[in-house]
Amino acid sequence: MTQLIYLDNGATSFPKPEEVYTFMDHFYRNLGVNPGRSGYDLCLESGEIIDATRKQLTKFFNGTDYNRLCFSYNSTDALNLIINGMLEKGDHAISTTIEHNSVLRPLFHQSEYNGVEVDYIPVDSKGFVDPDDFPKTFKSNTKLVIVNHASNVIGTIQPLKEIGAHCKKHGIPFAIDASQSAGKIPIDLEEQNLDIVVFTGHKSLLGPTGIGGLYVREGIEIRLTRAGGTGVRSAVRTHLFEYPYRLEYGTLNSVGVAGLHAGVKWVEEKGIENIHEHEMQLTKMLRDGLKDVDGVTLYCMDDLTDHIGLFLFNVDGFEALNVGTILDVDYNIACRTGLHCAPLIHEHLGTAEIHGAVRFGIGPFNTEEHIDTAIQAVKKIAQMRTAASH
Ligand SMILES: Cc1ncc(COP(=O)(O)O)c(C=O)c1O
Repeated sequence: MTQLIYLDNGATSFPKPEEVYTFMDHFYRNLGVNPGRSGYDLCLESGEIIDATRKQLTKFFNGTDYNRLCFSYNSTDALNLIINGMLEKGDHAISTTIEHNSVLRPLFHQSEYNGVEVDYIPVDSKGFVDPDDFPKTFKSNTKLVIVNHASNVIGTIQPLKEIGAHCKKHGIPFAIDASQSAGKIPIDLEEQNLDIVVFTGHKSLLGPTGIGGLYVREGIEIRLTRAGGTGVRSAVRTHLFEYPYRLEYGTLNSVGVAGLHAGVKWVEEKGIENIHEHEMQLTKMLRDGLKDVDGVTLYCMDDLTDHIGLFLFNVDGFEALNVGTILDVDYNIACRTGLHCAPLIHEHLGTAEIHGAVRFGIGPFNTEEHIDTAIQAVKKIAQMRTAASH
């Protein structure tokens, strides 16, 4: 069997840089005690890695206070903390139709069960929101604007700076879901007028699963929606209000933090622009190789400006799921099919009613050879349908 061609980096990056595996192994074998809980040397040393990672990520997002960089299990976890901790009955929130379910579902729960009103700004035919639609939707009770930075379906990058400027002018907290973008395109709290950046560790930051987090700008209020151990000031009856404890509950995934530390270091050393350029070059190659193939439909791939390396398509006459199976079984290509946890954007594309589409997610370890094989494979699948119809 030929070697697996992994084009499912939108779901999680794989493989990880060798340095991530090595550092996690080193950390867990040698420093795998519970950091921040005690004063013995090993515990302090372990805690230093946690602090170093808070500092590293704070700098990565151009934040100012590393204590406001909190770790969570993943983006979904952090998004729930902010959505449920910032909205209450009678509030209004604004999001978009290009969100992942990790935003859509907590918001839906808020509107369905907690009396919060939510508006969803639509994207245009190319997959971008118009920043000027936001102020038109602001109300006196708008308490949160939350936007997916880079789509996990069509890869479009939203104009954060302009949306953030509107939010800033009206004093409305602006949060971004950077699950797909962090590690692929620069994120800058100041430059882009952001109040909260939510990230997951296992995608483009090249860390392991089970670790994510958020940076919260000073002055942003997030109510406690959980409580538990923090390792410090145990006599206090409530959960601690100060950061980072405020948004951290129980023992950290310290080996996950270590892996994330190594992943971010790798991204910084390679250079985020170089990674993006490589991935976009491969995405363009896919687009050029498949755009004129009879029976293949591409979604939002005409202009790849302001895109990350995600590639969405269908083959006429096939369910997306079946294309995925053929790619897997006949070509050893891993991809993701279906609705990609983002039903509203599939409704917008007209792909919801045909059970979704096929997504290739390009990562830093993909090569031109991988892409060439993928192009040939999709062409052959398209020919199967032409042959069957004759
Ligand atoms: C845009 C977007 N938001 C949120 C998530 C959720 O990430 P996690 O499963 O790591 O919480 C994903 C994962 O696919 C995503 O692509």
